[in-house]
Amino acid sequence: MQFDTIIRGGTVVTAGDTFVSDVGIRDGRIAALAARLEGASEIIEAKGLYVMPGGIDSHVHLDQPSGDGIVMADDFASGTRSAAIGGNTTILAFCMQQKGQSLREALKDYHARAEGKCHVDTSFHLVITDPTPEVLGQELPALVEDGYTSLKVFMTYEGLRLRDDEILATLDTARRTGALVMVHCENEDAIRYLIGRHEQEGKLAPRYHASTRPVAAEREATHRALSLAEIVDVPIVIVHVSNREAMEEIRRARQRGQKVAGETCPQYLMLTAEDLDQEALEGAKYVCSPPPRDKASQDACWEGLEQNVFDLFSSDHCPFRFDDPEGKLNEKGKRHFRWIPNGIPGVGSRLPILFSEGVMKGRIDLNQFVRLASTNHAKLYGLYPRKGTIAIGSDADITLWDPERECVLTNDMLQHGADYTPYEGTVLKGWPVRTILRGKTIVSDNTLRVQSSGQYLPRGRSGI
Ligand code: URP
Ligand code: ZN
Ligand code: ZN
Ligand code: ZN
Repeated sequence: MQFDTIIRGGTVVTAGDTFVSDVGIRDGRIAALAARLEGASEIIEAKGLYVMPGGIDSHVHLDQPSGDGIVMADDFASGTRSAAIGGNTTILAFCMQQKGQSLREALKDYHARAEGKCHVDTSFHLVITDPTPEVLGQELPALVEDGYTSLKVFMTYEGLRLRDDEILATLDTARRTGALVMVHCENEDAIRYLIGRHEQEGKLAPRYHASTRPVAAEREATHRALSLAEIVDVPIVIVHVSNREAMEEIRRARQRGQKVAGETCPQYLMLTAEDLDQEALEGAKYVCSPPPRDKASQDACWEGLEQNVFDLFSSDHCPFRFDDPEGKLNEKGKRHFRWIPNGIPGVGSRLPILFSEGVMKGRIDLNQFVRLASTNHAKLYGLYPRKGTIAIGSDADITLWDPERECVLTNDMLQHGADYTPYEGTVLKGWPVRTILRGKTIVSDNTLRVQSSGQYLPRGRSGI
């Protein structure tokens, strides 16, 4: 037999092309693309289906410990199961440094959490919360050489945020080492001030999470992050952009000649601040940062996806159970929005939403879908061309999409650990009917077929 598997008669879609072809797979890699291939022990009929690179979700939080007893709803097993169900073959999760902890210690902890559990391929971004001279001078350069080539810094969250001088030092290290820095842009001092004012006024319900994190706080921090990157002359990624004003900062920086990548997420297309304003604290389900905004912001984010202001469409999956005293409804969070853990589930629903709302509603074409779902993530984070495309020699990470499959999204379908999806009841057209990881079908008929076959991926430098 020439091939292990042939995917027969589907429409192959890559970042740049759409063509009907058979795909021959051997030893986990794509070995041939041709109108007709013969000689395989397995034939997968794909007539009428789109044959696309497996999704890459480059912004996922799993099994992240927190100091105050809050427990995340997904570990690496359940989170990557949901990812696979939703058409992904790779995720990039965060490895968060605790204050006083070395990066190596943080990595040891996260590798132990992920080891043997992942159903899709996985790699880690480092989160720098304690940029000591030792961390930036010795540890980080060595880790970049070892394939940990991206990191995130926070401008918000007490205890996690970095000062501007610390961000500059981190960016400067990134420039020297070739690492890529992702920045969470919100002005923490402004937010803290507004929280204080809300407290004086007794405004403590979930909906006030949104009003203490206004657009101006995100726009200002986005502008500042871009300015800091310009000062040390290094590319950056602005993650989870929620509105037009922050998005325009990215456009302007590019016009100045800066290298910047932008990311938005499903919550900024599908939710608004009004979702936080519900009876019985149900609004807690939608608490994330930056918060969802309004209809005009949703339209702006779509525009950014259509016009390539955003290179990345990621989930920012950060799941907590609603009905859980260690989750969204912890005792303190019931009394004050600031203790509701930030984040919502979305790793399984990201691609079906983008396909249905984007492709099927005519907002983006199939190739743009592939770029936003997979290719750009691989290029930006040093996985291309092993991942993110359908080409000879690439890993056979392939998702088959049925554009005719219609369904109503329910939490059960997503098979994550959270007890809700913010997108319950969304009518979807198009569904990932088979997910193939390095040549093996890991999901078909919405069922995980192969356990724990994900591998850890050391990465190269960014292709930004
Ligand atoms: O609310 C959010 N986005 N939680 C996840 C952590 C982060 O800021 O990305
Ligand atoms: Zn963030
Ligand atoms: Zn500005
Ligand atoms: Zn995040």
